[in-house]
Amino acid sequence: ALRDPTDFGAAIRTIPDYPKPGILFRDITTLLADPASFSAAVDALVAGHRDDRVDLVAGIEARGFILGGALAHQLSAGFVPIRKKGKLPHDTVRIAYSLEYGVDEMEMHRDAVRPGQRVLLTDDLIATGGTAEGAVRLLRELGAEIVAACFVIDLPDLGGRRKLEAMGVEVRTLVA
Ligand code: PRP
Ligand code: HPA
Repeated sequence: ALRDPTDFGAAIRTIPDYPKPGILFRDITTLLADPASFSAAVDALVAGHRDDRVDLVAGIEARGFILGGALAHQLSAGFVPIRKKGKLPHDTVRIAYSLEYGVDEMEMHRDAVRPGQRVLLTDDLIATGGTAEGAVRLLRELGAEIVAACFVIDLPDLGGRRKLEAMGVEVRTLVA
């Protein structure tokens, strides 16, 4: 039987003990590989934002790039990458952040956003929210107006959604 394409939980695979013991890794590669699921997820993430005059979609490395390109196309917006340190060739702004299973630094090009541009932030998943919080700080440092942050998956026990909402960011997720 055909699966309901909006049953996003059914399209996601769970890998125990990846990348570290004790982590239950929610793997969206199975969702992305399924045409109906990928399409339905992109539609659900852009719903309500078509009239928000989004200038740019900012995607967080690495899986936020895949979603972000699709969202940008749907919204006729540009795309800008938020990358792990050392990957961007031009002048950058950088911030350290912590996530569910480690610490790292991320960067954006200094000229990626002009002050006042309206930005939709995206990634595959929000866990502790440390990654997304760092992304919001970088975007705001560049003068972005953050329209919303959207994710396929929320891990609600880890508190990321509340962290972003406390920063004044509207959050949309498709499956908890
Ligand atoms: C994962 C995920 C988010 C982040 C969420 O990326 O794609 O970016 O962790 O965790 P947090 O809410 O606790 O910050 P990861 O750092 O594994 O990088 P990758 O996409 O390069 O694999
Ligand atoms: N999947 C993908 N990224 C993640 C996860 C996960 O389960 N937990 C924290 N970041």
